[in-house]
Amino acid sequence: MKALLLNGSPREGNTYAALAALKKGFANIENLTIKEIAANDVFVSPCLACEVCHDSGECVFDDDTNDIMDAVVGADVIVFATPVYWWGITAQLKLIIDKFYSRSSQLMECKKQVGIIVVGQMPVEDTQYEIIRKQFECISDYLGWDIAFCNTYSAYDARDLENNADAINEIEGLWNLIK
Ligand SMILES: Cc1cc2nc3c(=O)[nH]c(=O)nc-3n(C[C@H](O)[C@H](O)[C@H](O)COP(=O)(O)O)c2cc1C
Repeated sequence: MKALLLNGSPREGNTYAALAALKKGFANIENLTIKEIAANDVFVSPCLACEVCHDSGECVFDDDTNDIMDAVVGADVIVFATPVYWWGITAQLKLIIDKFYSRSSQLMECKKQVGIIVVGQMPVEDTQYEIIRKQFECISDYLGWDIAFCNTYSAYDARDLENNADAINEIEGLWNLIK
């Protein structure tokens, strides 16, 4: 089984800490290989809606898009981890998700389990987390993927989440939800 972790944060902060805890827990899953992509460290040009990918199955840009899409297609489990930026996911992560367009028929053919981790300054009751969860529900419904978990945490300073033992314990246990 292959897991792909997509980190939407540009800094070594709360999302990074969440993924570190997740990887610790995922070590309990037998035969799981993990690939992690930091969206801020790759070069993905914005989608041009040129539609060339609809015939070729490849994005026209000579950037990291096609390699990332190969990893997305090949993954059994995809974890989207993102800070909240302006009530939504980060632009870095959205650039990658937009490129799912280039492989949408392929992505619909393969069942995937999805995990979502969202970290924002606001308390977890805030509407922003509902908006983001809904977005991933729509994406997963469209592609026929199953959401294994969608967890939200309130943290602001870069070290806040790693100092929240309850949150870190909960994230370490999420591997239990992968079938
Ligand atoms: C550009 C920007 C926009 C933000 N917008 C929001 C927001 O709309 N809601 C919120 O709760 N936090 C917002 N935040 C705070 C971050 O979500 C929060 O600090 C988060 O823990 C950062 O995660 P990271 O440490 O993984 O980068 C924003 C931060 C930045 C830099």
